[in-house]
Amino acid sequence: MSMTVSCESSRAPVLCVVGARPNFIKMAPLLDAFASARSPIPFRLVHTGQHYDVAMNEQHFRALELPRPDVSLEVGSASHAVQTAEIMRRFEPVVEVEAAAAVLVVGDVNSTLACALVAAKLGVPVIHVEAGLRSFDRAMPEEINRVLTDQLADLLFTTEEGASANLRREGIDPGRIHFAGNVMIDSVHRCLPRAISAADTLKEVGRSTPRCYGLITLHRPVNVDDRVVLSRLLETLAACAADLPMIWPLHPRTRARIEAAGLMPRLSVSGLHVLPPVDYRRMLGLLAGACVVLTDSGGLQEESTALGVPCLTLREGTERPVTVIEGTNTLVGTDPGAIYRGVAEVRAGRGKRGRLPAGWDGRAAERIAAVLGPWLARQRHREVA
Ligand code: UD1
Repeated sequence: MSMTVSCESSRAPVLCVVGARPNFIKMAPLLDAFASARSPIPFRLVHTGQHYDVAMNEQHFRALELPRPDVSLEVGSASHAVQTAEIMRRFEPVVEVEAAAAVLVVGDVNSTLACALVAAKLGVPVIHVEAGLRSFDRAMPEEINRVLTDQLADLLFTTEEGASANLRREGIDPGRIHFAGNVMIDSVHRCLPRAISAADTLKEVGRSTPRCYGLITLHRPVNVDDRVVLSRLLETLAACAADLPMIWPLHPRTRARIEAAGLMPRLSVSGLHVLPPVDYRRMLGLLAGACVVLTDSGGLQEESTALGVPCLTLREGTERPVTVIEGTNTLVGTDPGAIYRGVAEVRAGRGKRGRLPAGWDGRAAERIAAVLGPWLARQRHREVA
């Protein structure tokens, strides 16, 4: 893939926005599909800089073979209001200078909403990939981002039928909604053959790979920002690790909260292997080799379903119900008893197996490109007429 498509074309580009780690994973297959479509879709890649650490950022770009961003806004971390406002301030002139045909946003992070809002205010069409997911919990910053982005979007691509139903219920014109399948799973298909095995990742840090292990990821504010909840979770995870070894690539937000709460010693227990954040190819290797995943991430609920790995979600609800109904996901919340029981079930060989949801076949980006190309052409004709 190269950016020559965007440079050579005389047509206005679609500005494709990424900001945080999960966005990179969703965007990589889309850019490939746009470049290789029968009539290539011109694009420019904009990185807001919401995630900026090498481990959260460059490593993922390399692992996913994403092209270097055409535009970097370098916003960095701040409060939600400041981060969102700063992205908007820096993105607005980019949309104008590029004379964008549309702005394409993915997922539900602050960058998603900020850029959708800028485009909508400038009268530039907004395309939302992974639309319609709802946790129905407005305390989650992502839920606010999802609801508002979907209201602003002109073209909405969903990953599960329930998401399309949510959008229709919210009064969104059904003609704008397209069930496309899951681009996150496209990336699993693309990168699995190049995944770095758990054994290699652990060998590099001087550890051997347990035969059966759990993989932990945790970063949601509701789980890590409150000292009492965080402390109880650390205690529970350490107790689980005594029975089943656990590998835990630690998100910077979570590390910062554990340090601030003076809880770092809780991580030095036997059976718990804490790693720095790992790139996508390593994460896929760790996931594919795991007996169980314990997570509060949306992406991992989906990826574990795609790979048939049982997943215990440390949240009370999920905006991705298909992973529970059809996939390998079980909601255990943060109750220590429910988490122990979930791990014990897996150790007893009774982990959930599930089946692959419709459209999680590695071809979602292709389907999106097939809708988007003609849609953009219609928009152009409308402008000329
Ligand atoms: C963001 C998304 C979340 C997504 C997650 C994936 C929002 C509201 N949240 O959460 O939906 O699941 O990304 O990782 O958009 N930090 C660093 N280095 C970085 C990035 C972050 O140290 O490269 C630290 C900073 O202390 C920062 C904190 O992590 O304040 C939180 O980062 P932020 O991007 O605001 O949210 P995430 O928790 O990463």
